[in-house]
Amino acid sequence: MIQNDLVLKAARGEEVERAPVWLMRQAGRILPEYRATRSKAKNFIEFVKNPELACEVTIQPVDILGVDAAIIFSDILVIPEAMGLPYQMIEAKGPWFEKTIKTKVDIDALRIADAGGLDYVIQALRLTKKHLNNRVPLIGFCGAPWTILAYMVEGSGSKTFSKAKQFLYTQPELAHQLLDKITRSSINYLKAQIEAGADMVQIFDSWAGILSEKQYYEFGLKYITEIVKAVGPLAPITVFAKDAHYAITKISDTGCNTIGLDWTIDPALARTQAGKNLTLQGNTDPCLLYADEKTIAKETELMLKAFGKQRYICNLGHGLYPDIDKEKVKFFVNFVKEFKY
Ligand code: CP3
Repeated sequence: MIQNDLVLKAARGEEVERAPVWLMRQAGRILPEYRATRSKAKNFIEFVKNPELACEVTIQPVDILGVDAAIIFSDILVIPEAMGLPYQMIEAKGPWFEKTIKTKVDIDALRIADAGGLDYVIQALRLTKKHLNNRVPLIGFCGAPWTILAYMVEGSGSKTFSKAKQFLYTQPELAHQLLDKITRSSINYLKAQIEAGADMVQIFDSWAGILSEKQYYEFGLKYITEIVKAVGPLAPITVFAKDAHYAITKISDTGCNTIGLDWTIDPALARTQAGKNLTLQGNTDPCLLYADEKTIAKETELMLKAFGKQRYICNLGHGLYPDIDKEKVKFFVNFVKEFKY
């Protein structure tokens, strides 16, 4: 039994005595302890591939920030690599792929990933599960097929992802073939994570918001729905489609338990659109944590009241930025945990 299972209870729609809280990118550069552990590895990829180090930084935010869940330290880009498209993480720049996807030959050469190629994540999950000692739930994750395609075609981060979008407009058939391969890989991956001890899983669609609504349904949500159908029966599942708040009702139709929200949507409106049988997660603007404590308290109170105590998991609307003060993050987490409605 997990001692503090508030996040799982909230995801399943069970009654909770307070709203649980965890933070996207809670294992990261805001913590000096993370930076110390990271410096033991040669580079980011070696770090991700080292189960002992991954386990260490996964547990750090539970100890230091007091969050109600751990999220396994890894990256969404492990899937392209396991399919045959390796990446590098360039310091202060972000991901970079030497080879990108352009043609049918490129897509045919990709493997469907299975747990074998991702054994280091599976080992990290097992080790973390052991060392967490059932204090809080452990969250597994993957990128959504569209966001993964965006990196595989673009080859790096981008403001517009215009190469990836060009691919959808000029080669829709190929785009669907690639999305299908990513989807099958992601289903294998999430199932293996759950088997290794992940108590719930989250799909990150970070670039949902750059597609038109019509395109998002065709190239984005279709494949998320397939993943939710395959994995949802095994563990609670959260869909975080950044900047796609027009799709909340459609996301709730996928059968997921929880919808992750960015800060551009009003909590009360999201509640109306999602209906009563879904849990909402979010949606503090990470930049609020640059403000003074009084401002953080005031804004967080408004948000907590607007979402209500039940069927809600407090989180940010996107990941923590590396230059946010750890003390402000602690203040935010404690404020949520102590809040009296
Ligand atoms: O704490 C956690 O949330 C768990 C670990 C986690 C990481 N990446 C570690 C990481 C998770 C859930 C991710 C997801 C991820 N990775 C997403 C989806 C969420 C989002 O932020 O939109 C995306 C798009 C990526 C791809 C990625 N990884 C980029 C664009 C970058 C570079 C930007 C940056 O923040 O440096 C990364 C690197 C990365 N992944 C870091 C961490 C902690 C920073 C690496 C470092 O230590 O230098």
